[in-house]
Amino acid sequence: METRSKASARLSNRRTFLKAGLAMGAGAAGVAVAGVPALAAARSTGISRGDAAILRFLAALEIIETDLWQQYNELGGVQDAEVPGGSGSDSYTKKLTNLDGDMPQYIHDNTEDEFTHFTFINAYLKSKGARTINLDKFRTLPSSKATGAQQIGRLTNLMQLTIDTGFWTRYRSRTKNPDLGDSFQPAIPGLMKGKFPAIPRSDADLAPDDHIQAIANTAGFHFAFIEQGGSSLYPSLAQRVTNVEVLRILLAIGPTETMHFQTWQDKAGNAKPLTDPTNGLVFPDLNNDPPPPGLTREDIQTNLIMPEPTAFLNRTFPHVSVIRPTATANAARGAVAGLKADGLFIGQPEEFFELLDDLADEADAARRSL
Ligand SMILES: [Fe+2]
Ligand SMILES: [Fe+2]
Repeated sequence: METRSKASARLSNRRTFLKAGLAMGAGAAGVAVAGVPALAAARSTGISRGDAAILRFLAALEIIETDLWQQYNELGGVQDAEVPGGSGSDSYTKKLTNLDGDMPQYIHDNTEDEFTHFTFINAYLKSKGARTINLDKFRTLPSSKATGAQQIGRLTNLMQLTIDTGFWTRYRSRTKNPDLGDSFQPAIPGLMKGKFPAIPRSDADLAPDDHIQAIANTAGFHFAFIEQGGSSLYPSLAQRVTNVEVLRILLAIGPTETMHFQTWQDKAGNAKPLTDPTNGLVFPDLNNDPPPPGLTREDIQTNLIMPEPTAFLNRTFPHVSVIRPTATANAARGAVAGLKADGLFIGQPEEFFELLDDLADEADAARRSL
């Protein structure tokens, strides 16, 4: 746990940072863009500082989501006018379609959705005269060198992931809830034990067969990891929102993350059991191998894709099928911590982490006021 003084020191750093105007869109909070009458009118119905902070944090995470999904789409999705960029990797795409024949279409649609999420939230912030968010200066990480990927700077790193598949057992547990202090074993322990690519790093990764299949399997579980995070983040932050229209935005976008998650965890269950011959990464047979110590078959069974009923709010209530976690305290900080631990930002400078931490602290400091 961080001390309050550390948090306030960071907030004051943030103010200095914001004054410098780094990485931020034009205009300070509450100031409409000059010469745009519609925006000036919107100012009179402006949103609270807390609501703007929540939306700004969500916009930042949506930009990050878009960046990673774009990389997946370039190599394994459908490259078209809706989601341009890249020309696909045949070998990688074929291995993804072993999880489901529609994987390229789903990857494309998830990517398109993320574009619309950050674009909408930024436009809404702007309409209210609030600061928008732009992370372009941090697009410096290398692209995959595999044929099919664009050679442009990236915000996220999909080539050194350490994926916590605890979400898999969390949604299958009938007794535990992270909001009540429970922890969860990963369904694929191997993904916690190294830094694994979820896209081919170069064409050298396209063979041997079980190596590129392991990369596609890793992507399959990473898709679900990312989207379960959004499924929790939106309801967690919605509890801090004051303005009903802002609440509506969170309630309308959040469940689309859950629709993504539901699709992805169904597909991840089709990942071919194998051992990557290049690095020893094991994808167990979740339906037939003996469950790891501490887990039952039901904790890992692939077709249990609907949330099992579990404890919620207080263990004395009857069990109920719910999204979990949804606790609101430090929800934004928790989301950032999860993405950092995932390895998604390996290579980003300290300034990037400070910005994300500050945006998260501001969102977590928001309070619902009526
Ligand atoms: Fe999103
Ligand atoms: Fe998402």
